[in-house]
Amino acid sequence: MDYQNLKIPRHVGIIVDGNGRWAEERGRKRSYGHQKGSENLERLSRYILTKTGVEILSVYVFSTENFKRSVEEVDYLMGLFTKKFKNDAKKYKRENIKIVFSGRREPLKEEVLKTMDEITEMTKNNTGGILNFCLNYGGHAEIVDATLKIYHDLESGKIDHLDEEIFSKYLYHDLPPIDFLIRTSGEYRISNFMLWQASYAEFYFPKTYFPDFDEKEFDHAILEYTARDRRFGGIDYEKTNH
Ligand code: FPP
Repeated sequence: MDYQNLKIPRHVGIIVDGNGRWAEERGRKRSYGHQKGSENLERLSRYILTKTGVEILSVYVFSTENFKRSVEEVDYLMGLFTKKFKNDAKKYKRENIKIVFSGRREPLKEEVLKTMDEITEMTKNNTGGILNFCLNYGGHAEIVDATLKIYHDLESGKIDHLDEEIFSKYLYHDLPPIDFLIRTSGEYRISNFMLWQASYAEFYFPKTYFPDFDEKEFDHAILEYTARDRRFGGIDYEKTNH
């Protein structure tokens, strides 16, 4: 699709959902769905950040609550993250995409943290777009973690007051607000994803399971976004009778 002359969201969020159901419907194990989802994510993120004009993509790949899943599934996902970050680091570096992570490090294992740190370091000077992996991430946890740091800095005198702009600098990353939030698989929930950043996001809930949410589906989503009227609490009086 030609993205020129379209209204493009600066920051897109994707809640990755439906890998498990995608696999189960094919009589396969859930892990197969996660593997397909991870391949799709790599291709789609490169498309979004290099071909469409979107500057930041935040993807929810593991929530703090996902640790409640079976040990087998959690271990599989951790192994998949480790393998993909190791394998894909060079590709992202070449594509000029900067990788960052949002979330708590505890209780992630050392081998996962190591590949996360390596890919972050390898891509830190890239300028062609930011891919923010929300991994062991929770919106409540992020707000609590920011509040603890603020409390510390207020006590030590590093800052003497607080407002919304200062607060957002204490989040895991000081990113602009999410403009467009997509959740695949036909679920209509935000599930603790970037609560601060998504306050005025436009929502889009395609039925498609994530492994099938490809470039074409994303183009379709953007066309939907361009038709939205974003008012941020105001009113466009030229469009009303008053
Ligand atoms: C949520 O629902 C999805 C996840 C917990 C995992 C998403 C992970 C990936 C796509 C892999 C990402 C890989 C890298 C390298 C970051 P679900 O997919 O379990 O689906 P369900 O609701 O159908 O059970």
